[in-house]
Formats: sequence, C-alpha cells, structure tokens
Amino acid sequence: MYPEAFPESVVFTASAPAKVILCGEHAVVYNQPAIAIPVSDLRVTVRIQRHQSGAPGLRLIAGDLERFLPSNVSFHEEQAVTDALELTVRLVLETLKCSLPGLTATIESQIPVASGLGSGAAVSAALGRALSAALGNPLDNPTLNTIVYEVEKIHHGTPSGIDNTVIVYEQPIFFVRNHPIQTFTAAAPFTLLIADTGRGALTKVAVGDVRRLYETEPERIKPILSAIGDLVTLARGAIENGDLTRLGALMTQNHAYLQQLTVSSDELDQLVRAALDAGALGAKLSGGGRGGNMIALVMPENKSAVRAALVRSGAKYVYETLVG
Ligand code: MEV
Repeated sequence: MYPEAFPESVVFTASAPAKVILCGEHAVVYNQPAIAIPVSDLRVTVRIQRHQSGAPGLRLIAGDLERFLPSNVSFHEEQAVTDALELTVRLVLETLKCSLPGLTATIESQIPVASGLGSGAAVSAALGRALSAALGNPLDNPTLNTIVYEVEKIHHGTPSGIDNTVIVYEQPIFFVRNHPIQTFTAAAPFTLLIADTGRGALTKVAVGDVRRLYETEPERIKPILSAIGDLVTLARGAIENGDLTRLGALMTQNHAYLQQLTVSSDELDQLVRAALDAGALGAKLSGGGRGGNMIALVMPENKSAVRAALVRSGAKYVYETLVG
C-alpha cells in the first residue's frame, strides 16, 4: 500500500538529540542502573520531501553521500540487514505496513560519529520520525524506541537500550535494562562540559572486550559492576538533593571503575585529570570509552578555567549542556 500523496513543496522535518551517560555505562549492559542525559543543542535533523520523477524509493542524502533505497526495501526478508539506515527504513515500513513512494531524505548531523554521543541512535530516531510523518502515520515514542533499539544492535552488538531511550524520549533518565523508564528532577540545575578526544572508538568493540573480561574473570569484574550500580543510585540521590559536590565525587569514582574495566584511554585520562586539576567537581569518560568524549561537572566560577584546561590538554571540541 502506498500512503496518500502530498505536494512536493511539503517538507517533513524531525530531529533527535545527542546524549551523554552521566554514570553507569557498561555496567548497565549487566542490568545495573545508569543515568543518561540528552544533549539538546547537538542534533540530527532529517528533512523529507516527495519527488515525483524517477523510480519510487527513498533517496538518502547525508553530506556528500547519496544512496537510493528502492520501494521494495522492506521485502528482502531472507537478507540480514546490516546497514543502519536501511534497517531503520525497513522497520518503519514494516510497522506501518506500507511501501515507499518517491521520497528524498536529507540528513544533517551536528553530532560527531563514533564519539560516545549517540550519533547512530539519533540518526535512526530522526529518520524514523520524519519518514513515518511523511508516510502519514507519525510513530509514537514507544514504537520508535523499539525500532531504534533494533538498529542499535548493528552499532553495539548487545545494547542495553539506554542510548535509544534517552535519545527518543529526550529527557534525563534513570535506566535499568528491561524496566520501565524512570525520570528524575534535579534540585539544582548543573552544567556539564563535554570534551571530545578526537579519537573515534567503536562502542561495540569496548562492550565486547568487557564481555570477555566478565567471562574470564567474573570474580574480579562482577563486584566492579555492582559497585558502579551502587554509585549510580547514590548519584541519583545527589542530583535530587542538589548535592553537586557528592555527584562530582561519584562521577570521578565511576571513572576509576571504568579504568579497571579497561575502557578508558590515555587521552580520556588526561582530559579527566586536566578537568579535576582545573577545579571540576567531577569528571569521567562518557559512553563506550577508549576514545570519544568525557564529561566534567563544573560550577559557574570554574567553567572557563576547566574549558581552557581541556583545550590545552588536547580536547578537539568542548560542548556545554545544562541539566535540570
Ligand atoms: C554506550 O553509550 C553505553 C554502553 O553502556 C553500551 C550500552 O549500554 O548499550 C557502553
């Protein structure tokens, strides 16, 4: 079934944010809690328009890259789909039980790739949103979240579901795998600096390495994962009580545990050290690790000094986000 036609002048636009993991990454894969925060100033935007000329199907344009998905993209049941964009489109079509008319989707992203900021999940979420709207049936968040989770398996192997959830719902979450989403309220807003090492790293590789450690040394690794879970619960309490000094200490402690899980790197450790020396209340890697981004909890009076220290210590970009 083809959806109803709409004029070529109509543009369906949807977007999705980046994310940071405030605490609990990796342990969350093993059913421990974690806290994730959307970064609404860094976004992926997708614009979809109808094109009457040429074959029915979806022309996807992302920067210099252009590709075409034919209208029957959803009917290759026998083929495993290993491409995230194609899988997103296919799952949307299967959910809505329709085929592609002639459409052009333009994807613009401000989120660096392979940097722990959830760019893959944000692209899927924005594309799923814009495409379903263009097909006349905008997906609700729970359905979109299920689709983006399926696509995340391509990027992450065994994702916990935290990245797709924080990105689709775009609100701070206290997340436990396979449990309903919990939100929370910060008693006092706080600022995070997000610093990019400039080194790309694949979450899938880091998650796989932690899995191997877990399997070969369970007696050493399991207590580290539980300790991370415990500190995440304490961090939530600190946020709800406005105790930012405590929150910062817990973040820094979390970084030490992540080092023990072997997912930090020299660049990340250097940026964490620089942020703490410059007065940050806490600092840690964020996301899969091994590269990508770190976060620092800062106060208005030391924000500039911490930012400058991060740049001096090799940060390629420093972003800022206000939580609460
Ligand atoms: C990546 O943002 C967070 C990890 O815990 C992986 C996951 O939860 O799927 C490293």
